[in-house]
Amino acid sequence: MSRYLLPASVLGTAVGGAVLLKDYVAGGTCPSKATIPGKTVIVTGANTGIGKQTALELARRGGNVILACRDMEKCEAAARDIRGETLNHRVSARHLDLASLKSVREFAAKVIEEEERVDILINNAAVMRCPYWTTEDGFEMQLGVNYLGHFLLTNLLLDKLKASVPGRVVNLSSLAHVAGHVDLEDLNWQRRKYDTKAAYCQSKLALVLFTKELSRRLRGSGVTVNALHPGVARTELGRHTGMHRSTFSSFTLGPIFWLLVKSPQLAAQPSTYLAVAEELEGVSGKYFDGFKEKAPAPEAEDEELAQRLWAESARLVGLDMSHGSPVRGQSLSRSPLEQV
Ligand SMILES: NC(=O)c1ccc[n+]([C@@H]2O[C@H](COP(=O)([O-])OP(=O)(O)OC[C@H]3O[C@@H](n4cnc5c(N)ncnc54)[C@H](OP(=O)(O)O)[C@@H]3O)[C@@H](O)[C@H]2O)c1
Repeated sequence: MSRYLLPASVLGTAVGGAVLLKDYVAGGTCPSKATIPGKTVIVTGANTGIGKQTALELARRGGNVILACRDMEKCEAAARDIRGETLNHRVSARHLDLASLKSVREFAAKVIEEEERVDILINNAAVMRCPYWTTEDGFEMQLGVNYLGHFLLTNLLLDKLKASVPGRVVNLSSLAHVAGHVDLEDLNWQRRKYDTKAAYCQSKLALVLFTKELSRRLRGSGVTVNALHPGVARTELGRHTGMHRSTFSSFTLGPIFWLLVKSPQLAAQPSTYLAVAEELEGVSGKYFDGFKEKAPAPEAEDEELAQRLWAESARLVGLDMSHGSPVRGQSLSRSPLEQV
């Protein structure tokens, strides 16, 4: 009997350690209990994954939540689920395709016209490591959806956010931004050999640079903007990586994944925290890893790069750089990439 004692205690310690490590990695639930009755929140890419869970958390806290998604069937279904689960009936679905500047403009125009206020904008949607695809306007897909679409959307909604102060913008970046490099000469991968991983990292670094520059521009306005890494979560984000489809990786990496990967519900806690926490009132231009503020990659702190990226992004999406509003009369019928 005693010969089983040692292996059993080693196994017990290993299982206990694994559970503790999993809890530590998961990071826990949002430490703020703040509620947001009467506040209007927009969550992009809210039909699944972290976005859906964030929308649910914010609906539970009493917000008027708008799910902004490209697939209206999935969007309506998610809105129904959230209304059913939270009994908050102020949860609605609206069409937004971030791979189309026209769609972004139409979405923003409707929100401005139909919503009394916008208090919180959560730029959550993303595509990761897809093949070389381009958006309707000719941008590399990951840059176009993850960054440029959100850049335009945020700028178009700024006046509405400023009119509803205190307002908050939350940008879902990723730890992957540390491996990123923003190449202003070739943002859209037209001269370099396409590297789908590097393109994702570039888009997530661009979001941190955008956060920093927008925060400087919003100083004194009552609207804050922060970026975050939600942790690694079990969502549909890896749909283009092939890992989900491989039996080999499911078997070999499955246990490691179980240990290190969060549920979407837990991964939505940092976005919820940045959106509602009273102690973050006035905190802006920061990068959070989970609930903790951290220094981002050195390239993300480069102010000159952030300003140059802003100018180039404004040119690409057709924003008037001096006012941050759309250039009147500018046609985007030609690809913005072709415009001088
Ligand atoms: N999961 C992680 O481990 C992890 C780690 C670090 C950072 N993040 C970040 O967290 C955020 C949420 O990711 P997730 O893991 O929840 O991913 P997900 O499950 O793949 O969800 C992504 C969402 O973005 C939407 N989307 C994609 N292209 C769009 C477009 N053109 N227009 C509008 N919406 C579009 C998707 O809509 P469809 O369903 O229609 O495709 C979906 O609703 C992302 O910004 C991601 O980079 C995630």
